[in-house]
Amino acid sequence: MTSSGLNGVTAGSSGISTVGQEDVGLTYRGYSITDLAANSTFEEVAYLLIYGKLPGQRELDAYKKKLAGLRSLPDALKTLLEALPAASHPMDVLRTGTSLLGTLETEGQGGRTAVAIGDRLTASFGSMLAYWYRFHSRNERIETESDEETVAGHFLSLMSGKPADPLKRKALDTTLILYAEHEFNASTFTARVITSTLSDTYSAIAGAIGALRGPLHGGANEAAMELVSSFDSPQDAEKSMVHMLAAKRLIMGFGHRVYKNGDPRSPIVKQLAKELSEAADNTSYFDISEKIEAVMMREKGMHPNLDFYAATAYHMCGIPTAMFTPVFVIARTSGWIAHVIEQRADNKLIRPLSDYTGPAARPYVSVEERG
Ligand code: COA
Repeated sequence: MTSSGLNGVTAGSSGISTVGQEDVGLTYRGYSITDLAANSTFEEVAYLLIYGKLPGQRELDAYKKKLAGLRSLPDALKTLLEALPAASHPMDVLRTGTSLLGTLETEGQGGRTAVAIGDRLTASFGSMLAYWYRFHSRNERIETESDEETVAGHFLSLMSGKPADPLKRKALDTTLILYAEHEFNASTFTARVITSTLSDTYSAIAGAIGALRGPLHGGANEAAMELVSSFDSPQDAEKSMVHMLAAKRLIMGFGHRVYKNGDPRSPIVKQLAKELSEAADNTSYFDISEKIEAVMMREKGMHPNLDFYAATAYHMCGIPTAMFTPVFVIARTSGWIAHVIEQRADNKLIRPLSDYTGPAARPYVSVEERG
């Protein structure tokens, strides 16, 4: 039996996360997302996903130091970032940067492993984005080192050119935890399909970035911001939403393939969006978002997913809208790498079948006879 979009199909086994399991919810290697978001940092979570256990203090310090030492960009990559059009989507910038790095720091060369590539990309994606952004928007060639200890702080400080604000740094760090891993979602499955052909890690990550870019997947946080910012007030949102729903428009940031009774990450990111908005004394997007949430519940019985309130949270962190999905990439790279490693450990080519719906078998007609 065919399942549209592989809906409900179990396509393999994995020991990395549970998504939507009754009584268990979302866990990374057995730890609940609520505990991780409340108590840990993104670096601890990335380590957990890739190495399979939470780091001890010494391991964590060494891991953070290692990531901080992997932030610089080769000259050839800087030249490429400068040559890319200023109007490029930053997801294309990351996809292209990943491909180039794959030719400069090839897997296998000097014993370079998937883990090393994951560390390098996690550490340098923020540098790539900020270098490209500052060159094209402010005509600056920046240093890609920073004094910030964390991936979140490094990205924020490089983008703005100032030390990261502690509240924004902490909020971004928490969203990176929420975004880090989610079982067989479209981009992770893409990475696993590519890995299953015995291709290289850079190809798996570049393919995953391509899958994440679409608005039905990671691109939803950017699309949600466009929706929220298109309304002047909660009243305007209420009126327009009713028309949009009557016209059967998809409301970005709502619905989920697995979670039909709510995304456990959403209340956490909603609280962050609220705190950031209140701290800035500007709750207009948050108020509009709450109204959209209420209308979606009333009219469709639908819950927001992580991407919906992530939009307001990122906006309040001062992150440009086009960078929302690239920030998701920075986080999800750790999950992707964990899946590349797991796929390789017990590999079988992923090659399903299709139900044929084309013409019945027919005789070949020569080009002369076809006229
Ligand atoms: N806004 C309005 N209606 C929605 C909707 C949304 N965001 N998401 C689903 N629906 C509707 C569908 O149109 C469908 O209606 P129908 O039965 O009248 O055709 C019904 O709800 C069931 O949805 P379905 O398409 O079967 O869900 P899915 O599992 O295939 O899709 C998503 C899941 C995430 C792709 C879908 O909910 C969506 O497109 N959401 C918006 C994009 C988004 O936020 N993506 C990020 C996901 S984390």
